[in-house]
Amino acid sequence: MKQNLSSIPGPIGVFDSGYGGLTILDEIRKRLPRYDYLYLGDNARTPYGTRSFDVVYNFTRQAVVKLFEMGCHLVILGCNTASAKALRTIQQNDLPFLDPARRVLGIIRPTVECVGGLTASRHVGVMATSGTINSESYPLEIHKLFPDIEVSGVACPLWVPLVENSEATGDGTDYFVRKYIDQLLAKDDRIDTIILGCTHYPLLLPKIRKYVPPGIRLVGQGEYVADSLADYLRRHPEMEARCTRGATCSFYTTEAKEKFIESASLFLNEPVDVRHIALD
Ligand code: DGL
Repeated sequence: MKQNLSSIPGPIGVFDSGYGGLTILDEIRKRLPRYDYLYLGDNARTPYGTRSFDVVYNFTRQAVVKLFEMGCHLVILGCNTASAKALRTIQQNDLPFLDPARRVLGIIRPTVECVGGLTASRHVGVMATSGTINSESYPLEIHKLFPDIEVSGVACPLWVPLVENSEATGDGTDYFVRKYIDQLLAKDDRIDTIILGCTHYPLLLPKIRKYVPPGIRLVGQGEYVADSLADYLRRHPEMEARCTRGATCSFYTTEAKEKFIESASLFLNEPVDVRHIALD
């Protein structure tokens, strides 16, 4: 049944399983600073990367409904795992019932669109959570646009916990950064472009750069997602008109506020004022 949602313009919603989406939000706000934003982190139930399709879909759907109820007409899933496992079902099955005029966008497609112009060898690597790798979303999306590109993926299950436990620059982290990079390059030594397909990985960039051989390009996501959103709003003036412009950003977490404030400082260079919210 259709929800009774308001038609009053509202902020752009950015959702993530936890903190990683802050790297996406940061780039979006740099690129499109005039809009209002509402960030929601499902920190109480993170990580999503090891969870099943059904669980990720149900959690993500709850978050989208909440963001709609809070006034967002446009929601970005700033999480690869949610984009891989929940986006399509929400777009196809849920939006027509929730409100056909609202939109939910993911971050895999904007990342994939740039890859064709970056790889010369046509051999691309993907590093992401187990959930994103097992979903095969990256190879599927890449092959829709660039069928000639060979794609190899490696799951990096320890990278997110290392970042979330403030070990991004720790000495022990080198071992696991090198391990997954070596695994990827052992699968295909012609890779010249590696997609960092998880929103936490920008924090590991200094270490990743250390172990990726020169000549291999690393592709992050924030800038591509921000450019893609700017382009989307240009092409959809009816949606643009429903996004308010007060240059504000509010943060919500399903975990304790104090924990969010402490960990968010790893991802953002500004103090955040966060409120607790329940999704279930
Ligand atoms: N933010 C998620 C992603 O980009 C990683 C964290 C998680 O596993 O929940 O895939």
